[in-house]
Amino acid sequence: MIILSTVREIKQYIKDVKRQGKTIGFVPTMGFLHEGHLSLVKQSVEQCDVTVMSIFVNPLQFGPGEDFDRYPRDMKRDILLAEKSGVNILFNPDVKELYPSDPSVTVKAVERTDVLCGASRPGHFDGVVTVLSILFNLIDPDKSFFGQKDAQQVAVVEGLAGSLHFPTEIISVKTIREDDGLAKSSRNVYLSKDERHEAPVIYQALQKGAAVYLEKGRVAAIEHVKDELSAVSGEIDYIEILTYPELKVPSESDTRLILAAAVRFERARLIDNIIFTTE
Ligand code: PAJ
Repeated sequence: MIILSTVREIKQYIKDVKRQGKTIGFVPTMGFLHEGHLSLVKQSVEQCDVTVMSIFVNPLQFGPGEDFDRYPRDMKRDILLAEKSGVNILFNPDVKELYPSDPSVTVKAVERTDVLCGASRPGHFDGVVTVLSILFNLIDPDKSFFGQKDAQQVAVVEGLAGSLHFPTEIISVKTIREDDGLAKSSRNVYLSKDERHEAPVIYQALQKGAAVYLEKGRVAAIEHVKDELSAVSGEIDYIEILTYPELKVPSESDTRLILAAAVRFERARLIDNIIFTTE
């Protein structure tokens, strides 16, 4: 595995890979890798000749008072895991390398961002699409891999690739969970022992909520999830049922839906979702 940290180097390597006619799979991450990230790598290794992973904690996507400064980092461990899982090129620039000055241009995500995490974290998805535009430009991947765990991110990134005509296919990979159902997340390390014990309730509540939706509809389903989540000490940020990937309020004829929730614990805000069909 080659580790690169400058724009100049990554451009050169990508040029060489392209010249050899090889396909590129791209796995963007913020590091502190876990099996969720590694499942994206697995898909990329299976589907593409060369896998590029980026590890970059992107300041633009964190709001004031969010956890940019204390976002968990462990580069040594990440290098071992990335190498073992089959990454060929690890791109790990520092902030000044990607953003040498205050950016004179940023990208704004105008659709699919006024709900769910977009509503609770203003500007978050603008930061995501800005950094991904830079990375898509530098890496020029044939396929880019994203986790369903961040389903709104997948929906917004599909919009980005479509709107700006990035010639990369966006591939969504299913959520990897702990044995008790909790979605794996870099932020799970910030749960207290009691919170970690409670956290699997989120996924259980979503599963039951989807079943209630099919029987009794949207309001009853959201209410049901709310009741279930009253068992956790964290504060509910949102519970919502929308069409997927458009993220609109569903009508009777909509069949592909997302049920998503976010819960704020003391030091970590957790999100999870289920995508289901009504047919
Ligand atoms: P990060 O939170 O590090 O996640 C990187 C990728 O791993 C995302 O596509 C995310 O959806 C996926 N992922 C995280 N947990 C997962 C799980 N339990 N199962 C499956 N996939 C999982 O998402 C970001 O970084 C950033 O916003 C980024 C796209 C890198 C832009 O800065």
